[in-house]
Amino acid sequence: MALILCHSPKGGVGTSFIAAQLAIALAGQGHDVTAVDFTYQDALKLFFGLLPTQPLMEMGQATSQSMVVSGVELLSAHSLSRDPHFRELLARPGHSPFESDKLFIADVAAGDRETKELLLPHAMLHICTLLPRPGSLAALTKVQPGTPTIELPRTVFVLNQLDDTHRLSRHSHVFIRELFGDKLIGTVRRDEGVNEAAAMFEPTAKFAPASAALVDLKTLALAVEARCGLAQADGDQP
Ligand SMILES: Nc1ncnc2c1ncn2[C@@H]1O[C@H](COP(=O)(O)OP(=O)(O)OP(=O)(O)O)[C@@H](O)[C@H]1O
Ligand SMILES: [Mg+2]
Repeated sequence: MALILCHSPKGGVGTSFIAAQLAIALAGQGHDVTAVDFTYQDALKLFFGLLPTQPLMEMGQATSQSMVVSGVELLSAHSLSRDPHFRELLARPGHSPFESDKLFIADVAAGDRETKELLLPHAMLHICTLLPRPGSLAALTKVQPGTPTIELPRTVFVLNQLDDTHRLSRHSHVFIRELFGDKLIGTVRRDEGVNEAAAMFEPTAKFAPASAALVDLKTLALAVEARCGLAQADGDQP
């Protein structure tokens, strides 16, 4: 069906967290979602409440079994993304390994620009997560070097870890909203419950069900659904 590519030029901004929660929220809206971890770090699964030692199925390995957590199929593709045949397949015009009736959400590490560039032509949406911090905002020029960041057709931005009690956070929000308009597709509040849940190896929705960040992620999922023109599926959302 579609690939949603989650990549930011700056690490540690919440790319994996947003990818995981978006996958869970879209699955809750009735979509058939597969979340694919392209990172060596292998941390996407932590936001599903899995342990670091719990291995994921490898993408591309034919098996009748699949690991489904919080309604999302979880796959690892770091090794596959190093496979020259897979890279050649991604680079081949008119061919996509993602053409199916599923919705794929890819988590790509900040430093892995090669994989990001290979996946981008296959993506219907590229989500770039930002923090209201100087280091993250300074990296905006690195989203797609050579192209003004406001002109990237498939790229949208999520401002994560917002905290209205902090002046820099409020001012960054205004700046990003003025800069990107509706390309700022969502904001997510900072909530320590996110870290506490991961530390307890629990999904955020289980450990911190009242988390403000989760409320924001559900709104983000609706915005992504609308932006991608995804047909409303039968889920637990109205
Ligand atoms: N809205 C939030 N509120 C509080 N903590 C958050 C929020 N979003 C992310 N975090 C925390 O920020 C840290 C970084 O998140 P995450 O691992 O998703 O970032 P990343 O961009 O994928 O990092 P990396 O570059 O290491 O892959 C984690 O400890 C995560 O729990
Ligand atoms: Mg990550």
